[in-house]
Amino acid sequence: MSQGLDVGEIDFLYDVMRLDEKLLIDALRRRGAQMRLINAESLAAPDGLGRVGLIRVAGRSKVIPLAFTYEASGGISINSAQSLYISHDKYLTYLALIKAGVPTPRTKLAFGLEAAAKAAEELGYPVIVKPLDGSWGRLVSLARSPDDLASIVAHRRQLESAMHDILVQEYVEKPGRDIRVTVVGGRAVAAIYRIASTDWRTNTARGGRAEAVKIDGELEEVSVRAAEAVGALYAGVDVVESKDGYKVLEVNGVPEFKNVQRATGVDVAGEIAGAVLSLIKR
Ligand SMILES: Nc1ncnc2c1ncn2[C@@H]1O[C@H](COP(=O)(O)OP(=O)(O)O)[C@@H](O)[C@H]1O
Ligand SMILES: [Mg+2]
Repeated sequence: MSQGLDVGEIDFLYDVMRLDEKLLIDALRRRGAQMRLINAESLAAPDGLGRVGLIRVAGRSKVIPLAFTYEASGGISINSAQSLYISHDKYLTYLALIKAGVPTPRTKLAFGLEAAAKAAEELGYPVIVKPLDGSWGRLVSLARSPDDLASIVAHRRQLESAMHDILVQEYVEKPGRDIRVTVVGGRAVAAIYRIASTDWRTNTARGGRAEAVKIDGELEEVSVRAAEAVGALYAGVDVVESKDGYKVLEVNGVPEFKNVQRATGVDVAGEIAGAVLSLIKR
């Protein structure tokens, strides 16, 4: 161990203690880590935070300020504050992927319905409309026509009166499934197909079925480069199989992995724990 930090000093930040968090806590403990388990609900940041935070809190509005708090005082946030900021915004993720040359569906950010309609025309219907910071497929919609687009935007504006950002994305024909790759420390450690049941969205949170994927060289490369593009130590990379090869849909910086672990038998929690400990011991 070079300087400063002990393996003992990890704040494990959570709000809902899911199976993913329990698996990760066990894996860290088995490797000798000592942690303070901190329920984010109990915090008034910046008070009460140590030097290293493993952020397993759901939702951008807590994740981002917590991550930046660690880094503002010279500590370490895992994932890094910048990577969490980017991964919680699908447009910023798109920019990072394009910059890194990672294949991803053509995407446009519009600030009004007229501009969104023009963007959709350019991309060609059908298009996907999605919120910048969603998860579990919520509010991810398929627009087959300008009328569809207008009603999706109107619906979103009812839910959120200040909604100005409309992400319009090329619809990728995919074989009724997509791939969730878990990348840890520059390696694709495990991947599953998420096979759609009734929905064209394949999130397991929407009833998509999980099945192990044999990771080929191209899938490994695309997903590792995607995690690197946003700067994540570990990430859940959503990939679709298009007729032009793999395309990355998004990079999750606080990924769930229990389905990946269950379907593949890979000790994903152990992989993440190992990467976290070697990062803070450096
Ligand atoms: N451009 C697209 N083309 C085809 N299917 C898509 C596209 N974008 C999203 N989907 C489907 O919707 C699901 C949810 O979209 P995603 O961008 O991963 O958002 P979320 O953060 O809600 O999971 C994806 O797993 C995929 O099955
Ligand atoms: Mg997703």
